[in-house]
Amino acid sequence: MDIALKMASKQDCDLLFDWANDKAVRENSFSSHKILYEDHIKWFNDKINSNKCFVFILKFKGNSAGLVRIDVEDKKAIISYSIDKNYRGRGLSKVMLDLLETEVVNNKISINNLIGLVKFENVASQKVFESLKYNKIICNEFLEYEKYLE
Ligand SMILES: CC(C)(COP(=O)(O)OP(=O)(O)OC[C@H]1O[C@@H](n2cnc3c(N)ncnc32)[C@H](O)[C@@H]1OP(=O)(O)O)[C@@H](O)C(=O)NCCC(=O)NCCS
Repeated sequence: MDIALKMASKQDCDLLFDWANDKAVRENSFSSHKILYEDHIKWFNDKINSNKCFVFILKFKGNSAGLVRIDVEDKKAIISYSIDKNYRGRGLSKVMLDLLETEVVNNKISINNLIGLVKFENVASQKVFESLKYNKIICNEFLEYEKYLE
């Protein structure tokens, strides 16, 4: 399969803005309000310049098909991810999250575990983490999926 992750660059700002305001992305985020462009630019620049945040674009057959970001704190990496609506339904998240682990190693990102926080109604994301053998913890307001890296 012609599929790989590439580190996001400043040129990806508008693409990420479009993806951020995708209906399903907003519904499945913990703050579901619409994102304003000027707020996005500030947020994007903060993220892309931070040494605690790593943003990757999924390239599938030469096209930008998805996004995975990790925010690192105390050796734990919180995952945020989405697949472009035109590329959903093909299992690309599973491949993307597998590739993320390779990028963690290749970029010498010093973390002990990967964590995904998932809303109860987001069944697709629950299936993704479960198929990748993340451990599930049922919290009051969401599900926490956790994987220890060797
Ligand atoms: C979550 C998301 C990335 C998954 O995209 P994807 O990789 O194309 O996922 P798929 O459509 O291949 O679905 C993954 C699994 O969930 C199942 N699934 C998909 N939608 C479903 C639904 N509404 N109800 C139940 N199962 C569903 C699929 O059948 C598949 O199951 P399988 O592995 O047993 O075949 C995508 O839906 C998305 O971008 N959503 C908005 C952002 C988001 O929710 N991000 C995650 C936040 S934690």
